[in-house]
Amino acid sequence: MSKLIFEKKSLNSGDHLPEPKKGFDAAMYFPASAARKSPTHLPESAELDVVRHFTRLSQKNFCVDTNFYPLGSCTMKYNPKVNDQITTWPFYSRIHPYQDESQVQGMLEIIRELEGSLGEILGMDAFSLQPAAGAHGEFAGLLMISAYHKANGQKRNQVLVPDSAHGTNPASAALCGYEVVTVKTDEQGRVDLNELRAKVGPQTACFMLTNPNTLGIFETSIREVTKIVHAAGGQVYYDGANMNALLGIARPGDMGFDVVHVNLHKTFAVPHGAGGPGSGPVGVKKHLEKFLPYPRLKETSSGLVWNYDLPHSIGRLRSFYGNAGAFLRSYCYIKALGAEGLKEVSVNAVLSANYLKARLAKHYSLPHQAHCMHEFVCSASKQKAHGVRALDIGKRLLDYGLHAPTVYFPMIVEEAMMIEPTETESKDVLDKFADVMIQIAEEAEKNPQAVIDAPTKTPIRRIDEVMAARKPNLRWTPAGASEPKLASANLTTSSTCCA
Ligand SMILES: Cc1ncc(COP(=O)(O)O)c(C=O)c1O
Repeated sequence: MSKLIFEKKSLNSGDHLPEPKKGFDAAMYFPASAARKSPTHLPESAELDVVRHFTRLSQKNFCVDTNFYPLGSCTMKYNPKVNDQITTWPFYSRIHPYQDESQVQGMLEIIRELEGSLGEILGMDAFSLQPAAGAHGEFAGLLMISAYHKANGQKRNQVLVPDSAHGTNPASAALCGYEVVTVKTDEQGRVDLNELRAKVGPQTACFMLTNPNTLGIFETSIREVTKIVHAAGGQVYYDGANMNALLGIARPGDMGFDVVHVNLHKTFAVPHGAGGPGSGPVGVKKHLEKFLPYPRLKETSSGLVWNYDLPHSIGRLRSFYGNAGAFLRSYCYIKALGAEGLKEVSVNAVLSANYLKARLAKHYSLPHQAHCMHEFVCSASKQKAHGVRALDIGKRLLDYGLHAPTVYFPMIVEEAMMIEPTETESKDVLDKFADVMIQIAEEAEKNPQAVIDAPTKTPIRRIDEVMAARKPNLRWTPAGASEPKLASANLTTSSTCCA
């Protein structure tokens, strides 16, 4: 373990602040309760040491810019750097949401065009870019569905969610106050239509479908699904976070869906992960348009303005108009690729996933045989017989310089490993990953302990993940200092919290 920046000390370090002016009394500015009882412990390192410290730490990170990152469901694809660069241009980075609309017509035009492009790509009549994430888009969609039923004088209290849906779907429905009713998948990994027919009824507000579902499989009975739910008076929600499987190939709007969200931070070139700002635009068919969050753009003789006068709107979902940094990246990506380029993205994503699936088929068990879309789920159930679990395989991959797939999700597959290669990887990279996975399958048989003990070559070995989640070690306390009183009883202190 290398030292923390707080533990390092360089000669000639730090800035020296001037002494306070004579007669200065801090108590005039700060209440006595805010005054420190003892000196603070700030890092004391020279600039070069700071640069080296953080550069070294950054090199210990695993990232898509250095290695293959097949994390299923999370779409860790390479995003063109040009889109990041454009967001730093002053015309964009220096505008402020409090500026008068007349001064930011370009930005408003980008928002309008992006809404229009998403409408075209997904086959929906209107979009709002306001939701800050996929789950936020789901929440917005469900609020609109709730407002729609209310406006029609209907009380519907249930949301149907297949067991192959993304976990945020039932969570969003519960957050909106709905009772969540699970619909099972059939043996092929698709919505069981008989179960859907049995569970849908006058109490159904909505059916939420993740497509491709979390098994990476396309729901082939989709038109039947939307017909069944509509016949019962329910609305149909499409979780389109994984649209990178279907761009230019199929549109939720044409399949009969009433509401859809997409994740700009998965499909449309916005970097995903690290908790950075995402964006989950929500799109609707005409009959739900008046419920979209406000403000919405309106064309006037003096240009685009924000319209707040929308009495049926579900209201504002967040400050300003969404995560604007995400909009420009997606706008540039869509404009640069065009219709044909976007289709190629999905075709290649699906091809890569099916190629990997075929290469691994003999070595790992595949719970569902259907062709997959942009990702697939295999299982470590064969390896479990030797004491090797999905988690161990994920850790062993790190020793080979590859990131682990998503493990133990979806939960309907035992020892699940969910693999999403994405469209941006070459055949060489896919082959290297397949070769390593096959090698690990052989190790699991012949030398299982090597897999169980992994990783052995990474800067940090296997950590106690339960402890890290339950008792995160987030605050450094210098040796000899008394521990600060923390707001959360769960936080502990020590100097070994990171490398
Ligand atoms: C299918 C699906 N739906 C919803 C979400 C939720 O999106 P977010 O994490 O932006 O809330 C994800 C996230 O990866 C997803 O894969």
